Amino acid sequence: MIDKDDFRPITRSRRRATITNAKSETVKPRNGETAAASDPKARESLTKNLQAQLSEDNKRKCDLYDKMSCHKLQESMLSSASSFKNYRGILNWCVVMLVLSNARLFLENLLRYGILVDPIQVVSLFLKNPYSWPAACLVIVSNVFILVALYTERKLAMGLISEKVGLLIYIFNLTVVLCFPMVVVLKLPSITPVGGAFALGVYTILFLKLYSYKDVNRWCRERTKVKARSLSRSLSCPSSQSASSGIQSYVSYPGNLSLRDIYYFVFAPTLCYELNFPRSESIRMGFLLRRLFEMLLLTQLLVGLTQQWMVPIIRSSMKPLQEMDYSRMTERLLRLAVPNHFLWLIFFYSFFHSSMNFVAELLRFGDREFYRDWWNSETITYFWQNWNIPVHKWCLRHFYKPLLRRGAGKLLSQSAVFFASAFFHEYLVSVPLRMFRLWAFMGMMAQLPLAWFVARFLRGNYGNAAVWLSLIIGQPIAVLMYVHDYYVTHYQDDPTVTEAL
Ligand SMILES: CC(C)(COP(=O)(O)OP(=O)(O)OC[C@H]1O[C@@H](n2cnc3c(N)ncnc32)[C@H](O)[C@@H]1OP(=O)(O)O)[C@@H](O)C(=O)NCCC(=O)NCCS
Repeated sequence: MIDKDDFRPITRSRRRATITNAKSETVKPRNGETAAASDPKARESLTKNLQAQLSEDNKRKCDLYDKMSCHKLQESMLSSASSFKNYRGILNWCVVMLVLSNARLFLENLLRYGILVDPIQVVSLFLKNPYSWPAACLVIVSNVFILVALYTERKLAMGLISEKVGLLIYIFNLTVVLCFPMVVVLKLPSITPVGGAFALGVYTILFLKLYSYKDVNRWCRERTKVKARSLSRSLSCPSSQSASSGIQSYVSYPGNLSLRDIYYFVFAPTLCYELNFPRSESIRMGFLLRRLFEMLLLTQLLVGLTQQWMVPIIRSSMKPLQEMDYSRMTERLLRLAVPNHFLWLIFFYSFFHSSMNFVAELLRFGDREFYRDWWNSETITYFWQNWNIPVHKWCLRHFYKPLLRRGAGKLLSQSAVFFASAFFHEYLVSVPLRMFRLWAFMGMMAQLPLAWFVARFLRGNYGNAAVWLSLIIGQPIAVLMYVHDYYVTHYQDDPTVTEAL
């Protein structure tokens, strides 16, 4: 504890007295010291005593100096040169402010609109008629394409068809995987936009998985041929020794070409096929139930927030959009940005953490890296490398690196990947809405110049803020564009809807 006396002003007389004392102590010998001066041992001990006294005096002097001086060379904490980094209190403050301001918004919303949450309405988003389930039927039909891929691989492994024929069958199969659901969604009026988006999502995932399945099995065949030629062991599959010694039973090509193996891959939370996936030892029931609880809770929250918060703002944005009232349009956009961003964050956690971990735990799938720390992105490139790991891994393994290996430049390969990604984003939005506007496509393609701009002109915290801003503002712009165009296409001439807006 600090003594009260430490802060007492040091007077001139007191300071002088101390200094005089210290001097006299070092110069004057004490009682008995003169008698001992002739004895060498006594002299030695006297010297030691004197030295000890001196160091004690120095220490006392330093203490005194410390008491007198209260300043040192240092930066203010909020200055970037101070290297102070503990902002936990500020983070808590942000959370408290966020809760308070959103509580106000929540109350305002309730007072203005009443309770809009309606779980029954969610069912109607998927089904128009309770006895007709077109999206579910589409998903069931997708099994045909899985079986075609498996039987093509079996024939290729047995050498009953050539690589060229196999490739042609694959091209046909994969084209149908993309086109068949598209035609059904566009032609079948009973399928709702949400049901259509769900079915197309399933088919897109299947397309990416079957493409990976084709590539990996081809690599295995190529390695087997090399092995047969060089009479060396295959590198793709573990040796019989490691297979027999390990706990996990390993499979090697073509032993992997079974129904069980392909369906495990179809349900596993990855887009990249492997003959032997890393497996966890057991299913942890506590972990599984926690993820299930999160999934159920967050889905309800997503639906509730959309109905109560997003929909009223979107409705109120239609008029300013039609009248091209720019100031009101900006205000509505900023109003929409907050709930839209919350929904996106909740979706991220519920899909990439809760749902994927739930499926992985159920299937004892070991690799749980579904996302990395994208929230620390200081560049757009870092964001795309880290926010959706299954897609990024697929892009690298089956598209980007093969292009680079064939001699394409880095920029061309990156542009090709973003072009393919833009195509799939547009496919997943335009087809279910039955409306081709290219907003999603352009949003994705805009990532390339944006990535260049952020990397070139912004760094560190500014770069991170730019990434957040692009997410917070970019998405609601696309949402508003699609909703506006959907409204203009489908409801502009409907007086009941126009009145409701
Ligand atoms: C395009 C994309 C694949 C580029 O990824 P990237 O990590 O920035 O690419 P890089 O140039 O840094 O290289 C990645 C890999 O290629 C390798 N590589 C680079 N140049 C190479 C070359 N000339 N030859 C062979 N390999 C090369 C690197 O060594 C690196 O390998 P590693 O992963 O084993 O370390 C990435 O931005 C992406 O996934 N974009 C699309 C994301 C997307 O659409 N997601 C949708 C989510 S909804």
